[in-house]
Parts: sequence; C-alpha cells; structure tokens
Amino acid sequence: MSYPRLKQSIILALLMVLISLISAFMYGALKPYRVEEVQILTAEEIKLPEPSKKGAVSVEEAISLRRSIRDYSDEPLSLLELSQLLWAAQGITDEKHKFRAAPSAGATYPLELYVLVKEGGVKGLKPGIYHYNPYNHSISIFKSGDYSFNLYKAALSQTWVLEAPINIVICAVYERTTGRYGERGVRYVHMEAGHVGENIYLQATALNLGTVAIGAFYDEEVHRVIGAPRDQKPIYIYPVGRRS
Ligand SMILES: Cc1cc2nc3c(=O)[nH]c(=O)nc-3n(C[C@H](O)[C@H](O)[C@H](O)COP(=O)(O)O)c2cc1C
Repeated sequence: MSYPRLKQSIILALLMVLISLISAFMYGALKPYRVEEVQILTAEEIKLPEPSKKGAVSVEEAISLRRSIRDYSDEPLSLLELSQLLWAAQGITDEKHKFRAAPSAGATYPLELYVLVKEGGVKGLKPGIYHYNPYNHSISIFKSGDYSFNLYKAALSQTWVLEAPINIVICAVYERTTGRYGERGVRYVHMEAGHVGENIYLQATALNLGTVAIGAFYDEEVHRVIGAPRDQKPIYIYPVGRRS
C-alpha cells in the first residue's frame, strides 16, 4: 500500500471511531454518570408477608393512644411489621377495583412510597432504599446502602430521622391528579398524603411502634437522597421504630 493510501485509511478509521463515539454518547451509552446512578440496582422484588386484617387494638384505642414519638430503640423491625405499615399506608383493600387503604381523589393515586432501611433496621433486609408496589404488596430495592445520615441532614438534622430503623418517604406525582382536576388537584394530593400519614400513625400505634410526621426538610435534598424520578416530589417523611 502506498504511503498516501495508508494515510487515507488511517484518517477514515479515525473518522469512523469518532462517529461511533458521538452516536454512542447521543444514545446515552456514555452518559456521564453520577454516583447515585451507579448504585441503582435492577429490580429485586421482595414479596412482603400477608398483612393482618385484624388486630388486638381497636381503632378507638389507636386514636386515643396516638402520639408523635421521637425516641426509638435500636431493635430492628420485622418484615411483617414493615408489611403491615405499608399496607395501612397504600395497600390494596379492594382487589376488584384496586382501591387502596387511603382515599384518593378520583382514584388517581398520585403517591409513591419509598422506605429507607438502616443497617440492621429490618430483620432479613439489607440496608437500602426500597420502593413499595401496592399491586404486588412487594418492595423492590431502588438503591443499596444506608442513607439514613443523608436523610437526617436533608431533614434539618432531626435526630429521630437518623435513629429510626426505617423512614417512609411519601412522594407525589402531582400530574396524576392535576391532570384531572387542574390546580385544585394540588390540594387533593396534600389531603391524600394526610390520610396516608394518619394511617401510618394509627397502624404504628396498634403495633406498639412509634412514628412522627416530618414536614420540615429540604425538598431538593430529600429528592436527591432518594434518587426518585424528577416528577416524584417528596412531601412527607415518617420515621418508624420501637418506642425506647
Ligand atoms: C404537617 C405536619 C408537619 C410536621 N412536621 C414535623 C417535623 O418536621 N418534625 C417533628 O418533629 N414533628 C413534626 N410534626 C409533628 C407535630 O409536631 C405533632 O403532630 C404535634 O406536636 C402534636 O403532637 P401529636 O402528634 O403527638 O398529637 C408535623 C406534623 C404535621 C401534621
């Protein structure tokens, strides 16, 4: 091969490499990664134990005993307790229509629940951020690792967030409800989060666990810690633990 021919082939090969690099970048194959994205795992679904529909504490007792509890022991929760809490918050209670434990304007169901599990927070679960799927009554690992310190910092250093074995974070996809009700849907989403929160309070009380509604936090920070999709806005945090 003559020298100018060789030079031409090298230039052509370099051009082809450049073109494939540009197209790989455009299609996301070489997307610059953030640390959080690296830690997102493929769905590892864990079926939760069947929640109980009967309990030893009456609804009247649970209402009268309910208090915001901010001190928790180190003792882990059981998977059954976690199952019961998530079911009370957002579990399916009408299989036919797929209606849930808490009411929802037009059954638009704008809320998504995440559970931050501390190291040793729930017996049999590795630390991580789990997403709740009401339809299968299951959780899927969303991010692995103990993020309780990050959540505590994002929640204005409220120590109960750090100390609780689990934190339930309620996120809202406003568009699911505003899509049907316009601006008024924003109000409906907040009302619904209140219903879910009260269910968590009452279920925790009935299980002799403690919880507290947390509304004071940096929205963006909490969102970043969870790594939830952009349209899911955190609106409430519920640390849950055994009363110390
Ligand atoms: C919307 C809302 C936001 C709240 N935010 C916080 C919070 O950020 N930190 C906290 O410790 N308690 C918070 N609370 C709990 C209240 O402080 C608590 O409900 C109140 O002191 C009454 O006590 P009780 O829940 O035991 O009846 C919040 C409660 C609500 C309803």
